[in-house]
Formats: sequence, structure tokens, C-alpha cells
Amino acid sequence: MNLEGTIAHGAAQDLLNVVPTSAVLGAEIRGIDLKSLDNAQFEAFRRAWHQHEVLLVRGQTLSDQDLVAFSRRFGDLDWAPVQETGRRFVEGLPEIYIVSNVKVNGEPIGSLGSGEAVWHTDMSYLDVPPMASMLYALEIPPAGGNTSFCSMYAVYDALPAELRQRIATLKIKHDGTYNSGGYLRQGVTATNDPRTSPGAVHPLVCTHPDTGRQMLYLGRRRNAYLLGLELSESEALLNELWQYAERPEFSWEHVWQVGDLVMWDNRCTMHRRDPFDDTARRIMHRTQIKGSARPV
Ligand SMILES: [Fe+2]
Repeated sequence: MNLEGTIAHGAAQDLLNVVPTSAVLGAEIRGIDLKSLDNAQFEAFRRAWHQHEVLLVRGQTLSDQDLVAFSRRFGDLDWAPVQETGRRFVEGLPEIYIVSNVKVNGEPIGSLGSGEAVWHTDMSYLDVPPMASMLYALEIPPAGGNTSFCSMYAVYDALPAELRQRIATLKIKHDGTYNSGGYLRQGVTATNDPRTSPGAVHPLVCTHPDTGRQMLYLGRRRNAYLLGLELSESEALLNELWQYAERPEFSWEHVWQVGDLVMWDNRCTMHRRDPFDDTARRIMHRTQIKGSARPV
């Protein structure tokens, strides 16, 4: 743990009830209403978020406007990506992205359906990806649809020194062809060649701009490509790195309840979602806070 984290923990604990999970990342903040955090509590919340990477707050009653207002306290928001239906966003609320399998008149109201969403970082196919995502649970299925988060600090720390040395200066292309549910993004031509697929190039090892900690930046597996390597070398090295990233000891699994707000650091974590029964309803609303700079 770095110094900032140590100090932040003490200060955050004085102002907020921070209950860490038993995993390497994640904490629940108890006893607060996100609609009425004062400035000191808000700063403590931000510090706890830097330290724990993912925060959970249960029992919230947030309108879309409340969700946008709380998200904006962290910075400017990204507009939601185009939904799989081609619709851009909720009428009048360009910041809200709907993650849902629910259909109205045969048309999905949101994205990602009910299947598995594979490990990924949100929108890392952009030059400046969002720094944070917030997901608020409005309806959840009786079983399934859990979301897991993994710490890319912990994954990096676990790499053998030899491997860390081998990847220290590599750059990785983060694919922009498919979303985490495997759906083709709007306006993109399908391709399965990682060398030519559209996307953004980032360093494979990045330094977190707020905590100063180093992390592995994988984004997602499909169509990822390590620049300057033969495709077969790139595939082999990525597979080796993903074996670390997918180890259960680096992740925390969240079982949703209605009224849960989860905020994750989109720079140092990845997340995935379990499938669930498509006849059940799951509705989540998401916002994203703009990143301040390209990953370095
Ligand atoms: Fe996501």
C-alpha cells in the first residue's frame, strides 16, 4: 500500500463507515445517502475509492437526475455510447447508458442482453477512456447477473520479475470492434484480425495518475494486439498475462440488490458479468466520468 492510501484510509474512516471486502479490492460504504454527502464526506468517499478501487453503497433511491448529479461531483461525464439498437441514449439524458435485457414492444431498452459479459475495462478503445463508471441497480433477476471486479494493481504485482521486465515498454491495442457482450459496436465493420481492427493504443503497464501505483492495462482479450510483435507472439504473451488476470484471488464478486450503487475505478480494474435467465428482468443505469488524460 502506498502512503496516500494509508493516510486516506484513516481520514476516510473518520468521516465514513468504510467496510472493506475480504478480497484484494472493494469496500462497502455504510449509512450514507449519496444525494446529501457534504464536501468532507465526498472527499473521504473519493479517497476510499482510490484506495479500494471499487465502492458499493446499498439502499439508495436515485432518480436518473440524482445519479447524474452525484457522478458530476467527480468531473465531467462522457455521453453514453450508442446502444445496440442504434439509439444513443435515454431521452434528454445523454449521460445515462442502460444495461438491460428487458424488451418493450420487442425492442431492447438497453444493451448487453442476458449473456455473459467477459472481462473488460469500459471504453478503453478510446484514446482517453473514462476514469470511472457507476452502475445503479433498478431491477435485478432472482439469480445470476453477478458482477466481478479484478484489481490490475494486484495482477501486476503478482507477475514474475522476468515477465514484468519483458512487458515493461510494450504497447497494446484495445479493440473497438466488439462490446463485452460480443455485440458489434455501431458503425464498425466486423473483423477478427487483431492487427487491423480499430482501437486505441495504450502502454501495457501504466501508472495510475492519482495513486502513483503501477498496473497492468489489458482492456479486453478479444482482438487485443501487442504492437511490434508477430501475431503469434502477441497472442502467446497475452494468453500468459490473462492467466494471471483471471485468477480468482485478484477479484471480488458482487451479488446485486435493488438500490445498489457501485462505482469502480476504470483505470486499475476490469469487470465481468455472469449470464442470467433471459425471462427475468435486469435493469441497470450507468454513468461514466471522463478521464483527464491518456493512460501513461
Ligand atoms: Fe462494462
